[in-house]
Amino acid sequence: MDKLLIEGGVRLSGEIAISGAKNAALPILCAALLTKEPVTFTNVPRLNDIGTLLRLLEQMGVKVSRDSDGGTVTLDASGVDNPVASYEMVKTMRASILVLGPLVARFGEARVSLPGGCAIGARPVDQHIKGLQAMGACVKVEHGYVHAKVPRLKGARIFTDMVTVTGTENLMMAACLADGETVIENAAREPEVVDLANCLVAMGAQISGAGGDVIRIKGVPALHGATYRVMPDRIETGTYLCAAAVTGGEVRLTGTSASYLDAVVDKLMDTGCEITIERDALRLKAPARLTAVSLRTAPYPAFPTDMQAQFMAINAVADGTAVIRETIFENRFMHAVELQRLGADIKIDGNMAVVKGVDRLEGATVMATDLRASASLIIAGLVADGETTIERIYHLDRGYEKLEAKLAALGARVRRLS
Ligand code: UD1
Repeated sequence: MDKLLIEGGVRLSGEIAISGAKNAALPILCAALLTKEPVTFTNVPRLNDIGTLLRLLEQMGVKVSRDSDGGTVTLDASGVDNPVASYEMVKTMRASILVLGPLVARFGEARVSLPGGCAIGARPVDQHIKGLQAMGACVKVEHGYVHAKVPRLKGARIFTDMVTVTGTENLMMAACLADGETVIENAAREPEVVDLANCLVAMGAQISGAGGDVIRIKGVPALHGATYRVMPDRIETGTYLCAAAVTGGEVRLTGTSASYLDAVVDKLMDTGCEITIERDALRLKAPARLTAVSLRTAPYPAFPTDMQAQFMAINAVADGTAVIRETIFENRFMHAVELQRLGADIKIDGNMAVVKGVDRLEGATVMATDLRASASLIIAGLVADGETTIERIYHLDRGYEKLEAKLAALGARVRRLS
């Protein structure tokens, strides 16, 4: 298994380009199942999760073509003959559940493996199921699979018990081909939901309200082909901002936008960083030492859970004490133990972490436990004295495109050991 070696202590500086958003690209690629015409997507990040989803779509009969650098993907779902997502595929990537809504909507049937829990929490899909049932589908959960069947989905009023990102996306896609109007209340407002809605509209869907907590979808008989560019990755952007901040660096990130990142930019300014917002770029200049910042994760537009681990790493070396509250996932502090191995002073009490900034971290061997936890270990490794070895970095390859190349372009001393 690959490891990442980081020699800490380099002040990051320079410019890198941000990739397309993983969490937007995943549902958007699934949207291709809704039409028999080819759909082309650009700015698709080259990530293991994207590769997994494309293989899953191929297994169903979708024709996939990628240009030589992989960033442009054309999907042709005219020949889909197998509306099934097997356990083997879904277990490696929970987002595979996003095929459920489109398959039921277009083919009247789907069998999708239950994703099961993952390291950060139980993560059930009951809301996805409840929504499809409200739209008239007969849904059975048997032998570990969700089996949904319906001649044609019917528009419905759906109120989700909690804000769910992929739940909202699945139901919004399903509603595009339903008979009549669907209203999703308590919808997720994440920018990736809006990006998916924009893509669906480009394919002929009638959607209003995406970005708010009530989304209205008027079903149409069919969607058509389109070309759509995936939005920039706000979590990748935030991660590199934190990496630069912790090293006292100065960086410019291009191909991205601050408009998706208000909560994160705000907190970084509270740490003492200067942030300049340009049209399609962001500049950060960090002080010699950051000030600790407390935060609480919550659905968008509040502070994203996917940035919590990175902020724990910067608080570990900041001046002062920060209190971090995680309200989305029940087990998302696994990076704390690994950060402690580097010398961080962190106390966990339920969903609260108290992080007391220390003067210095020391390089050590640590283990990546999930995608964003891995990012926090990199951030800590960049500022730690000596060498930090991060094991199990396959998590990073799921979500960060060209990670070592981008860090190296900013001056970091980092290398991968196979
Ligand atoms: C998505 C993101 C993930 C991010 C998360 C929260 C993708 C591919 N992944 O995950 O990176 O961390 O949003 O911003 O976009 N829940 C239920 N029942 C359901 C659905 C959700 O109980 O049917 C719970 C979950 O267990 C969790 C909370 O609701 O506690 C929010 O989860 P959700 O927004 O659905 O996360 P994902 O869409 O899986």
